[in-house]
Order: sequence, then C-alpha cells, then structure tokens
Amino acid sequence: MSLYVLGIESSCDETAASICRFSEEERTVLSDIVASQIDIHKRYGGVVPEIASRAHTEALTRITREAFSESGIGVEDLGAIAVTNTPGLIGALLTGVNFAKSLSYATGIPLVPVDHIKAHIAAAYFAYPDLRPPFLALTVSGGHTSLMRVSSFTDFTLIGGTRDDAAGEAFDKVARVMGLTYPGGKEMDRLASLGDPAAFAFPSAAVTGDNLDLSFSGLKTAVINLLNHFSQTGEPFRKEDVAASFTRTLTRSIAKKIDLAFETEETGTLVMSGGVAANSHLRKEMEDLCKKRKKRLCMPPVPLCGDNGAMVACQGYFEFRAGKRGDSSLNAYANND
Ligand code: KG4
Ligand code: ZN
Repeated sequence: MSLYVLGIESSCDETAASICRFSEEERTVLSDIVASQIDIHKRYGGVVPEIASRAHTEALTRITREAFSESGIGVEDLGAIAVTNTPGLIGALLTGVNFAKSLSYATGIPLVPVDHIKAHIAAAYFAYPDLRPPFLALTVSGGHTSLMRVSSFTDFTLIGGTRDDAAGEAFDKVARVMGLTYPGGKEMDRLASLGDPAAFAFPSAAVTGDNLDLSFSGLKTAVINLLNHFSQTGEPFRKEDVAASFTRTLTRSIAKKIDLAFETEETGTLVMSGGVAANSHLRKEMEDLCKKRKKRLCMPPVPLCGDNGAMVACQGYFEFRAGKRGDSSLNAYANND
C-alpha cells in the first residue's frame, strides 16, 4: 500500500517542503520545493541564525502550499508529516518543528521526527530503487562530515568523521578568503577544474593512524595562510591552482579513509550524500576508488545532494514504518548526540 509523506526541512538556510509517495517497491518525489536564503545571507559571508529563523517562518506556509498544489494531492491524503528536528541551527529547526506540529495537531496526521544526516543518506534511495542497507554512508555537507555504518533503514552507527570543520565549511571558508561569494563550494568546484592540482602541497586532512577520522581545519588554515601570503607580498598566483590543489588534497584525504573503511568494514556499497557530494572532483575520486575496490557507489542526483524536503520525507517514511512518532512535546536539538 502507498503512503504519501510530507517532508519539512528548515535546519539551516534552505526552507524545503516535499510530498513523496512510498511503498515497498516505490520511492517517488511528487513535489520538491526549496526556498533558498542564500541571497539574504551572502552579504554577511555566512548564515546569520536569527535571520534564517525569520526567513523560514515567512516561507514555510507558502512553500508547503506549493508542494501540495504541485503534487496534486490534498492534506487529507497524507499518511505522515516528517520534519527535521536535529541537528542544525536551533532557532531554524524550531520553526519547522512547530509548523509540522501544528499541521499534525490540526489534521490528526502522524508526526515523525527525522535526523538531518540520516535524511541526507536517504536521498540516495530515490535514484537507486533497489538500494537497501547494509551499506557505508559518507555524508559531506556544510555542517557535517560523517561516516556511518547503516545496518537497516533506521539503524546507524557513527564510525568516523571530522574532528573539527565540516568539508563544506572548509570549502566555504577558503572561498571567502579568495573573495568568492557565500557559499563558495560550487564556484571552487568550477575553478578547480581550470587549475593545476599539483601546483601547491597542502597537509592531508586524513588523521594519522588506524581511525576513520578527518580534520579539515589544518588544511583550511594552510590554504588561507598561503592566500594571505600572496595578498601581503603581491606575488602573482592563479586562484584556479589554489582551488585545484586544495580540492585534490581534500578529496584524496577522504578517499584514503574510505579505502581504510573498505578494509575494516564488510560492505559492498558506499553511499555518498550531502551538499559537498555535488562536487565533481569528489564524485570522480569516489568513482575511481569504488571501481578499484569493486564496490557499488550510490550518489543522489546533484539537486538532491543539498538540503531538500524529499530526503526528509524518505527517511520519515522508514522511521514511520519502524513505529517512530512525535507528539506535541516534540523538541528540536542543535546536536544529535
Ligand atoms: O547539505 P547542504 O546543502 O547543507 C548542510 O546541511 O550543510 O550543504 C551545503 C554545503 C555548502 O558548504 C556548499 O558550499 C557545499 O555544500 N557545496 C559544494 C558544492 N555544492 C555545494 N561544495 C563543493 N563543491 C560543490 N559543487
Ligand atoms: Zn544538509
């Protein structure tokens, strides 16, 4: 039997609402509306939490209406309302949670809380209808970088990840020092394609030893120091070369830890998701690695890599099936540990 699920996302700077239809054999996106706040935040060089919460509040009703009208279904057809309640900016999360709680209270439709990282991973299910756990999941986004063992649709174990900055954060901070507008990840991707990845040597982000951890802060600082050196001395350099060298160091560091995980974890599949999973160089690096190690690589299509409501609806569907419910006391949590 099919279940229609509304997914609401407001954890950072994207307000998103989506309606999807799920059954044992089907994972279909009927509508997926994303209202980005990037134009609002870019003049500050990053997300301003208070402004983000206000913008979510202004957008939520409008984009949810749009999601319904595009999907062709009515609120009475819904089987569940899924909402991101952790991790993220607390004020931003609360706007979505309160919106979803009100809708659930008014309609009697069950409410399902969803973890944002798990939702990013669930985005891959749309593109690979036969994909099912167990698998390894690498989530690389602006706020998170984590490696998880996914044992079932609702059973996740953190086995590695960043000890400091997230991968997207490193991209955005380097981009800012280069003078690119926020968020600079996409433009860095383009510049890196035009540069020489061997032009500069930067320290690896793979933490030394037998662990699956990364640390992007040293790499980020090394690149920023080099950029500061060029700006102070007036020595000429090509932004493209810095972008390419930084990107290669970052992607190779991630690949090194994933390769180690392939040795220590019994898995035939890697799922890579999150905003930075849109990076063409990282996608290529993972494709090469998985080919070499004979693993299946599943990545959501680029539009589903960044924050969206469909991924929340999808994870919400699996959590709903497993019996998870929220009620009027549902809260939001900035951290999910
Ligand atoms: O998943 P996401 O939309 O939001 C979070 O949950 O954080 O990820 C946003 C991040 C930003 O840091 C952005 O610069 C980065 O994803 N990003 C990219 C690319 N496209 C988006 N980073 C590198 N290359 C890209 N093509
Ligand atoms: Zn995200």
